[in-house]
Amino acid sequence: MMKKHLKLMLIIPQLFFLMSAFGQKAPADFFPENKLMTIGTFYFPEHWPEHQWERDFQNMANMGFEYVHMGEFAWTFLEPEEGQFQFDWLDRAIELAGKHGLKVLLCTPTATTPVWMGIKYPETYVMYSNYQRGEHGTRQNNSLSNPVFRKLSTRIVEEMAKHYGNNPHIWGWQLDNEPEAKEDYSPSAREAFQHWLEKRYGSIDSLNQAWGTAFWSITYRHFHEINIHNANAVGWWGSNPHALLDFKRFTASVQADFLNEQVHILRKYTKSNQFITTNYVSVAQNADPRLADQLDFAAFTSYPNGGSPNLGKDGFRLGDPDRLIQAHDYFRPIKGITGVMEIQPGQVNWGNPNALLLPGTVHMWLWHCFGAGSSFASSYRYRQILYGAEQYHAGIMKTDGITLAPGGIEYRQFIQEIRQLEKMKVATTVPERLQQMKTAILWSHDNLWDHSRQPQNGNWNLWQHVFKYHRALKALGATVDYISEKDDFNQYNMIIVPAYQSVDTVLVARWRSFVEQGGDLIISCRTATKDRNGHFWEAGWAAPIDDLIGAEIDHYDMLPGYQQAHVQFNGEVHAWNTWGELLNPLKAEFGIASYADQFYQGTTAVVFRKLGKGTVTYNGLESLSGKLEKELLKQRFAARGINTLDLPPGVFVSWNKGFWVAVNYSSEVQTIDPGPHARLVLGEKMLQPAGVLVWTETND
Ligand code: GAL
Repeated sequence: MMKKHLKLMLIIPQLFFLMSAFGQKAPADFFPENKLMTIGTFYFPEHWPEHQWERDFQNMANMGFEYVHMGEFAWTFLEPEEGQFQFDWLDRAIELAGKHGLKVLLCTPTATTPVWMGIKYPETYVMYSNYQRGEHGTRQNNSLSNPVFRKLSTRIVEEMAKHYGNNPHIWGWQLDNEPEAKEDYSPSAREAFQHWLEKRYGSIDSLNQAWGTAFWSITYRHFHEINIHNANAVGWWGSNPHALLDFKRFTASVQADFLNEQVHILRKYTKSNQFITTNYVSVAQNADPRLADQLDFAAFTSYPNGGSPNLGKDGFRLGDPDRLIQAHDYFRPIKGITGVMEIQPGQVNWGNPNALLLPGTVHMWLWHCFGAGSSFASSYRYRQILYGAEQYHAGIMKTDGITLAPGGIEYRQFIQEIRQLEKMKVATTVPERLQQMKTAILWSHDNLWDHSRQPQNGNWNLWQHVFKYHRALKALGATVDYISEKDDFNQYNMIIVPAYQSVDTVLVARWRSFVEQGGDLIISCRTATKDRNGHFWEAGWAAPIDDLIGAEIDHYDMLPGYQQAHVQFNGEVHAWNTWGELLNPLKAEFGIASYADQFYQGTTAVVFRKLGKGTVTYNGLESLSGKLEKELLKQRFAARGINTLDLPPGVFVSWNKGFWVAVNYSSEVQTIDPGPHARLVLGEKMLQPAGVLVWTETND
């Protein structure tokens, strides 16, 4: 794959030229290479008496925090009356933070609106699917399609941009809070949806065709007749999947447009060294971070422990092992940089139950964030608040504001360790095994939304399906990027295409060319069954990929939750339940796994073929444990002569900026073998639950 390097060499200088022409920095430039990670914390000056601010900033700085995050819920303090702006209190807070050497990550406050807005302009609230309007008293309940809300939010952002755009203490900006693309059934949303559809389809006939409105006589004559299809009102079984898909697309595009608009305003007034990002809710369901393409990079929030059982007896204290890695691998590839904007420093208020964390857990999470590639991490929040909806939420400090909570002590330890490591000179060339195991998972929100309307089996969950591959790749020691169709496939040696329903011939041709040039393509069940409007092909099931995978797909099956069926691969039997396809290989030797029971016993379940310089594996089912998926991947790596790892569940080994990091979310002690060239810099090879081992590699 030499061609890809040439292509990249040609594209990258053009990108830099375009960015600098607009005075915009490349995402990586905001975080110097010699800095391993920048650590900060959330502070709400409006919650505390002003005479305590300086003490708090001083304590933060003493602990080693480098930035403080402020302002995301402060609209009512910044514009107490319509059009009257009051920045003096925030000026004083920023000045004090700066005095103690803290950079400020400032937020636009558009997630919580002042009371005057709702009284004067009730139409600015969102409307839920039961047609009940949102009310004052909480956050994130405004209609992003409402022109009055947009005008008022644009104005507060512009005022803040003018006021703080040149402030030397401002490090960067976070827009809004956890943009989630809430579904909005208000009159404003309906009107905006009609315009969006008109722009997308041009004529009402094409919309009728795309939505298949001939079915059940729902044909429209004009765009202004279109209602927002509401599964809650008509029953999910009766709702039109194409109309629902377009509503999801519209909702995500409104959310992205809202963010992109804020970026444009900020860029007019802010210095080019202030970055602009937002804090997506981990791997979001409705918001598509790739649409908000004006951001410098996408960051995310992560709360690994919300009370689930997780792994083993202490899992409920250690948190969900998949949470951080999934978010990193999903957000980092978007612009090559990411950070965890919020991570819990202890118990949360919304879990069930909100157990104490196992000592060491916060420390482990932070090391995991570093290993997985975060450029920064901030603790939500610094002080535990004494009142309000989140009064039970832990902070770095206990309720007295000056005593470190257990998570605060672990933060301090992590900061000290990372600063020590920064002093070490280490080789930062990506290790060879990681380069060889550079793997991508093809992801699209369209696909997620399409599955969510028609899972066809209550136990089918696209995220879970995708994560079977992701988890297996991590256990084998691969690096993983979630990529989109817009990305260059040839940067990877292996691409997973999991249950990717809607395709066109161009995409299938790109998959083929990736394979022909030497890539390993792993496609899973349910792929290529539909066109881009979500219609089936007037041809065989998944016909566009028959030739690529070397098989026809005759039928698909699924089982009730209480039943399991089996498939045989390489002498082993794997149970399955949610989805299984009956394959008819074009050549008998393509079949590599077959069903072990049911009336179709012996029918092919997985096919594999060589094509050009590469290979295609088509897995027609989802195994229950994920072991079949892991075996298929392992075989491909073995064929390339790669020595894969075999990490137990809950153990992750990652590499970042010259350091290997192992963490243990399991409830048992795990022994790590860092290899003969390891120089241990932190921790022990016998990794306790919540333990961390960090090492570098020497040449001797
Ligand atoms: C996040 C949110 C924060 C805070 C936190 C509590 O989702 O962005 O503002 O509410 O949850 O865990």
